[in-house]
Amino acid sequence: MTTPTHMVELRDVCMQFDEKKVLDGFSLHVEPQERLVVMGQSGSGKSTILRLILGTLRPSAGSIFFKQFEITRLQRRKLQAVRQYMGMVYQYSALLSSRSVGSNVALPLEELTDKSPDEIDKIVDEKLDLVGMKDSKELLPEELSGGMKKRVALARALVLEPELILLDEPSAGLDPVIASVIDELIISLSDTAKVTSITVTHEMDSAFRIGTRMAMLYQGKIIEEAEPEKFKQSENPVVAQFLSGSTEGPILEGSLDAITKK
Ligand SMILES: Nc1ncnc2c1ncn2[C@@H]1O[C@H](COP(=O)(O)OP(=O)(O)OP(=O)(O)O)[C@@H](O)[C@H]1O
Ligand SMILES: [Mg+2]
Repeated sequence: MTTPTHMVELRDVCMQFDEKKVLDGFSLHVEPQERLVVMGQSGSGKSTILRLILGTLRPSAGSIFFKQFEITRLQRRKLQAVRQYMGMVYQYSALLSSRSVGSNVALPLEELTDKSPDEIDKIVDEKLDLVGMKDSKELLPEELSGGMKKRVALARALVLEPELILLDEPSAGLDPVIASVIDELIISLSDTAKVTSITVTHEMDSAFRIGTRMAMLYQGKIIEEAEPEKFKQSENPVVAQFLSGSTEGPILEGSLDAITKK
C-alpha cells in the first residue's frame, strides 16, 4: 500500500443508492492549497462526492483519504476529530432555523472546542465580518435571503480554521457582485490562510475564476481534468458541450428528442 501524500484522495470509489450507481470507479486527488473545481450535470453526484470526503456518507466500495487518514476506515469518534480540519458549505446552507446567525456560526466552536463565550464571540464577529454579514448577527435564518444564508454558512465553515473547505454551489443564486465577493474570498483563503478547497458548481464564470484545476464528472467518473486554460480547450465532446451549454452533443442525447416530440 502506498502512503498517500495528497490533501484528499478518492481511489476507485463506487457509490450506489439502491439500484442507482452514482459513482463508478471514481478516482481523484487534490493537492495542498489547490482550488479544485468539479463540474457536472445536475444529479451527476457532485454533492455526493463532498459528503463522501466529509465522511457523512460511506461509499459502497473504494477508499477515501484526507491527508494520512483513511476516512473510509475511521471509527465515529476519530472521524469527528478529523472533521474539525474540514469546513463544509452545504448546497442549501443547512442553518439551524431556531438559532440566530451568530449562534449558528458559533455552533462548531461550542461543540468542538473549549473556548470561552468571549473568545467564541470574537471569532464569530471576525468570520461574519469576513463575509460581510456582521450586521445580521442577531437575525434568524428565515429573515435572510438565499445569498445571505450562503455567506453565513461560509462563515460557519471557517470558524475552526479548516485546512480543507468543501463548497457545494457556493455562488448559486447570488447576484453577480456577491458571487464575485465569495469567489475572491475562496481565493484569498488559499493564498493567505493556505486553505485547500474543493468547489462543486454549475456556474461557469465562478468556476473559472476560482479554479486552479478543473475536473468534469460524467457517468460516475472524472472524464477530464486539467488546468483552466487547457480544460477550456478540451476536445472531449462532453466537456465541450457542458462549457458551451449547447443542446447538441452527448449530454442528454436521446432525452431531448423525447422532449421536443411531446
Ligand atoms: N441519500 C440518498 N439516497 C438515495 N439517492 C441519493 C441520495 N443522495 C443522492 N442520491 C442520488 O444520487 C444522485 C446524485 O445526487 P447528488 O446530490 O450528488 O447530485 P448533484 O450532482 O449534486 O446534483 P445537483 O447539481 O442537482 O445538486 C441523484 O440521482 C440523487 O437522486
Ligand atoms: Mg448537488
